[in-house]
Amino acid sequence: MKVLVIGGGAREHALCRSLSLDPDVTALHCAPGNAGIAEVAELHTVDALDGAAVAGLARRLEADLVVVGPEAPLVAGVADAVRELGVPVFGPSARAAELEGSKAFAKDVMAAAGVPTARSYLCTTPEEIDEALDAFGAPYVVKDDGLAAGKGVVVTEDVEAARAHALACDRVVIEEFLDGPEVSLFAVTDGETVVPLQPAQDFKRAHDADQGPNTGGMGAYSPLPWADPKLVDEVMRTVLQPTVDELRRRGTPFSGLLYAGLAITSRGVRVIEFNARFGDPETQVVLARLRTPLSALLRAAATGTLASLPPLRWSDDAAVTVVVAAHNYPGTPRTGDPIGGLTEVAEKDAPGAYVLHAGTKKDAATGEVVSAGGRVLSVTATGGDLAAARERAYRALGRLTLDGSHHRTDIAARAAGES
Ligand code: AMP
Ligand code: GLY
Repeated sequence: MKVLVIGGGAREHALCRSLSLDPDVTALHCAPGNAGIAEVAELHTVDALDGAAVAGLARRLEADLVVVGPEAPLVAGVADAVRELGVPVFGPSARAAELEGSKAFAKDVMAAAGVPTARSYLCTTPEEIDEALDAFGAPYVVKDDGLAAGKGVVVTEDVEAARAHALACDRVVIEEFLDGPEVSLFAVTDGETVVPLQPAQDFKRAHDADQGPNTGGMGAYSPLPWADPKLVDEVMRTVLQPTVDELRRRGTPFSGLLYAGLAITSRGVRVIEFNARFGDPETQVVLARLRTPLSALLRAAATGTLASLPPLRWSDDAAVTVVVAAHNYPGTPRTGDPIGGLTEVAEKDAPGAYVLHAGTKKDAATGEVVSAGGRVLSVTATGGDLAAARERAYRALGRLTLDGSHHRTDIAARAAGES
């Protein structure tokens, strides 16, 4: 099978790594990719938001499967353009991707499907904003209705900060604060059959002990030793299947990756948000544990044949990933800094640890790999348990150098029983 992956972050590197190890994959292409993906896939230049361009590339490469990684191309209708060409594509239509693209749409689908989520108001005027803030009280949760690359949500005790964020948005969702640990559960679906993956936990705040600003995610681990073993079944029954059924009922079936961001509250599981694609950095740890060849799973979703796929197989290993972020991330990151130690990790820290590239590129003049984004690398490791995986990930990370970079030191520490 010839596969084309669209995107160029750590998620796409994790996808490409798994696909490159998959015996059914005969050719692997990625556009635009990054310096790490270049080692496992052939890179192409394309405007990832241009459906016609992506479809044209898929045809030229005679791709048997196109995997659209990030949300922006999905919301822009890139999967639709490829599907119209008759090429199987893993990723929802623009209309189904509104589940991620619009918080208000997601709330509407959840209400119709009876899916448990935070109570919320959609506000467009200063009066409505003040009423909603008053109604819920602190801590305030204020969400920009549209896509904001993980930066549209403000959770604060400070009513003025909450009001200022709300006023800066065109349409804003203000909602009830959900207390309790967060879980990310991914499911692969063809619009009808839903296959859950293993749950993971993401660390959203920039600094240790959940301090500092929200980010796209600073690390993740899987499995979750503290979670109820029945959690996945419950979320399938109360969240994933009803949501997929509701979108099909509306005539906009969702096929691809449905990501449920969940809060495990004292009153039960609640949806914090949906995403329409693999999450970063959770994908790095979930795929590290998946034993079923990835291409068969993604192609079954793309061709509507998930019901006949055998049950997924999983490794008993634990996986941990730690993000190395550029100076000043999640503010405007500094780019162009050389990254050292990549060869050392590849050669000396195996088995069990590897580096996935996010914002990197090869400097055309020097041939050096340099930083090119906010989240630069994702150091991933597996081990017999979380403590072993953690140890390997941080040992590998210790060999890397990137001037001004920062990372969290407490990824999976509590789950591993270390703090
Ligand atoms: P989102 O972009 O919706 O995932 O929100 C980013 C982060 O904000 C989530 O991972 C949560 O940590 C936090 N958050 C969002 N909604 C709520 C809520 N209703 N209650 C508490 N925290 C929330
Ligand atoms: N891990 C958070 C996200 O992918 O949105």
